[in-house]
Amino acid sequence: MKKSLAFLVVLVVTIACGPKKEKKKSFEYKRTTTEKKAEKKAIEKAPVNVENVGIGPIKSMAFDTNIDAALAEEGSTIFKQKCTACHMPDRKLIGPGMKGIFDRRNPAWVMNMILNPTEMLQKDETAVALLKEYNNVMMLNQNLSQEEARALAEYFRTL
Ligand code: HEC
Repeated sequence: MKKSLAFLVVLVVTIACGPKKEKKKSFEYKRTTTEKKAEKKAIEKAPVNVENVGIGPIKSMAFDTNIDAALAEEGSTIFKQKCTACHMPDRKLIGPGMKGIFDRRNPAWVMNMILNPTEMLQKDETAVALLKEYNNVMMLNQNLSQEEARALAEYFRTL
């Protein structure tokens, strides 16, 4: 009787401890892959570059000191119609938030990204890095005119 009780205790302990150990192991494995992924993401983040003007019809661009409020308002309307499927003004959605865009990109680069995204995503170093950062989701060419792109750029100054 004593012997079989001891056997039972050993059996229970074995069963109770067995799976626990494995759980811990898989948890540790998960943690390291998450860490590795985070590391990879940090490396792949598109760098700030305000010198690069990009590839497209706009070769250089500088803003007036004052913001043109009417033009910015026009840009805001276009943004709501054509961009909010993927962009929010102030935070990441499918693409990056637009707030502070000119702290990280040249105005001409922003115009070319709006007017010529397909070529930019293939050939421009910054755009290629962004594409990687955003999991290869392609920014669409919306066939905007230069005037519309200019209005959007003015709107981005107000964010
Ligand atoms: C189908 C989704 C989609 C639409 C619609 C879209 N974009 Fe994008 N946009 C993206 C993605 C995704 C990126 C990041 C680069 C990439 O992966 O293509 C991006 C990048 C950008 C960038 C560069 C941001 C940075 O941080 O450097 C600008 C500027 C931009 N978009 C402006 C616009 C404007 C303006 C519109 C509307 C006319 C628009 N986008 C419409 C998906 C979209």
